[in-house]
Amino acid sequence: MRRSQIIFSSLLSMILLLGMGSLQAQDLAEGKSLFRTNCQSCHNANMKAKMTGPALGGVEERWADYPEDLYRWIRNSQALVAEGNPRAVEIYNEYNGSVMTAFPNLTDENISNILAYIDDIYVNGVPVVGQVAGGGAVVEKETSNWVYFGLFGLLGVLAIVLARVISNLNYMVQLKEGNAPAERKTLLESLTSKSVVGFVLFGLIVLAGYFTVNNAISLGRQQGYAPEQPIAFSHETHAGLNQIECQYCHDGARRSKHSVIPAANTCMNCHKAIKVGSKHGTAEITKIFASVGYDPNTDLYIDDIENIGRDSLENIYKEWITDNYLLAEELSALDQTGEELVSEQWDNLVASLTNETKDKIYGPIEWARIHHLPDHVYFNHAQHVTVGEIECQTCHGPVEEMEVLAQHSPLSMGWCINCHRETEVQFKDNEYYASYTKYHDEIANGSRKAVTVEDIGGLECQKCHY
Ligand code: HEC
Ligand code: HEC
Ligand code: HEC
Ligand code: HEC
Ligand code: HEC
Ligand code: HEC
Repeated sequence: MRRSQIIFSSLLSMILLLGMGSLQAQDLAEGKSLFRTNCQSCHNANMKAKMTGPALGGVEERWADYPEDLYRWIRNSQALVAEGNPRAVEIYNEYNGSVMTAFPNLTDENISNILAYIDDIYVNGVPVVGQVAGGGAVVEKETSNWVYFGLFGLLGVLAIVLARVISNLNYMVQLKEGNAPAERKTLLESLTSKSVVGFVLFGLIVLAGYFTVNNAISLGRQQGYAPEQPIAFSHETHAGLNQIECQYCHDGARRSKHSVIPAANTCMNCHKAIKVGSKHGTAEITKIFASVGYDPNTDLYIDDIENIGRDSLENIYKEWITDNYLLAEELSALDQTGEELVSEQWDNLVASLTNETKDKIYGPIEWARIHHLPDHVYFNHAQHVTVGEIECQTCHGPVEEMEVLAQHSPLSMGWCINCHRETEVQFKDNEYYASYTKYHDEIANGSRKAVTVEDIGGLECQKCHY
């Protein structure tokens, strides 16, 4: 009786553990997506640096005296300021002039998930480039790992139970035959018996094999990858809201292997005129000016940009940021908030446009690369976009809805192959296929309805591999 109770409760706790593991991953995923859509425009995603709003890392400690008010703050910060909550008044005064958006629709659960995500990033850091980062894919993976551990544990418990049952049966048989040993096997003895040890070893080998293969395959793959970019460039604003054609910026896609990220000069076509944004004011667009050496105060490119010192550049761009702040706030001289805002924007500009290998703010913007096939794979955009007439979105997803661009497709070999199997080529009026006379004849005489990429050799190894 007691033994079955122990077994039952250990099974139960295992199931609970499993459930908790996957729940936690789901909560973090929801927190992340809520943070991205609602908070990231003002609060730094690394949770450690200030932006328009304060760094959110450790925020629960700062509100430890009024934990419930923290939730109310996020729903409506101004109400709390009006009530005179000390932390609300303190942080509001510190950021005088900026009012945080109200989020009346967020539920307690939503907010607790956002806070959990904030804490997770604050404690564990932002996933680095190369690691599988972001997106639902990772969450699924975490969950399934739990499932495997759980199943393994479950099998282990079953094995122990079986071992006990067998040894009990043995004992009873021996008892019946009258030659029972004085002592029955203890639990420890059954646990270290050959069969149990063998089973555990076998299980470990299978598990190790599973993880090695899995990690080797997904190495370098990063579906859902959405790194932070030096400029908060939004495809949603440009390709969605303002309906700018993908190829206006990525003009390489039509005619070459690579799609190419546009040079900052392409941005200048519009941003010479759109100099202050409705979302970030001067904070982001000024980075474009600094990278091409454009002086927005005079609307002229800066002379001798290569040799002009950092101090002169600092004066130029701080003047621009200051003037716009004064204009927006209807002030004649900088107040304390203004001074902080100006130096914050300048510091952020320098941090975004420089890195270990680039110490000048002038020069090409170093966008973080998102899609990346291994070197042994040959992929050509023009072939797919111009010849194959495939929409960008078929492979890249709803880019025009992405505030932050993320890798939509797995970019695995199976992904390429599946599409080549299923997709019919635009065969009829396409010059490119004129030489396939056999297929043209077959279509003409009705023995063939369609030609897939597979039919024209799209599954041959050497077409995709160097
Ligand atoms: C429009 C910009 C903006 C957005 C969007 C925004 N915040 Fe804020 N947030 C601020 C500013 C500015 C402050 C500083 C207080 C003030 O001026 O009201 C702040 C303060 C806070 C604080 C208090 C920090 C502290 O140290 O006490 C919390 C918590 C917070 N925000 C959470 C959130 C969450 C969660 C979201 C998303 C659901 C969010 N904010 C979205 C601008 C924003
Ligand atoms: C106004 C210019 C502009 C337009 C229009 C535009 N993009 Fe982009 N695109 C960029 C910039 C800048 C980046 C690099 C920053 C980033 O990843 O957000 C980029 C990055 C990308 C990337 C990721 C590149 C990588 O590193 O792997 C893809 C894919 C992409 N764009 C697809 C599209 C598609 C599809 C459209 C049309 C729906 C589109 N873009 C419209 C400027 C533009
Ligand atoms: C065809 C015109 C056009 C081109 C080209 C263009 N943009 Fe924009 N951009 C816009 C428009 C329109 C807006 C919306 C302005 C607003 O919201 O105030 C905008 C907004 C922005 C914003 C948000 C500003 C804010 O604070 O709200 C950023 C950042 C930005 N663009 C960066 C870029 C970069 C980087 C490039 C080049 C890769 C680029 N843009 C190319 C038209 C363009
Ligand atoms: C058949 C699928 C497919 C289509 C269609 C497609 N892309 Fe891509 N795209 C990819 C793959 C795969 C990569 C990664 C290439 C690499 O790493 O060499 C990529 C990479 C990119 C990049 C990063 C720069 C580069 O070339 O490596 C940009 C930008 C981009 N695509 C934009 C576009 C735009 C814009 C369109 C539509 C005009 C488009 N893509 C259509 C599959 C596609
Ligand atoms: C959305 C569907 C789709 C996906 C995904 C796709 N392709 Fe294609 N691919 C096509 C079509 C359609 C063609 C036919 C165009 C043509 O005739 O060249 C093609 C043609 C090709 C060709 C030329 C084949 C030949 O016989 O001339 C190569 C090489 C190629 N793709 C490589 C790749 C690689 C590598 C990937 C994955 C990274 C990929 N494709 C993903 C649809 C796709
Ligand atoms: C339509 C394009 C395409 C064709 C055809 C193709 N491959 Fe691949 N292959 C890929 C891509 C893309 C990758 C990279 C997958 C990744 O990074 O996960 C790849 C990866 C590989 C790898 C490395 C293992 C891995 O998963 O990363 C091997 C080995 C390989 N291919 C062998 C072959 C052989 C053998 C053939 C012929 C039977 C073949 N491929 C045909 C696109 C193709």
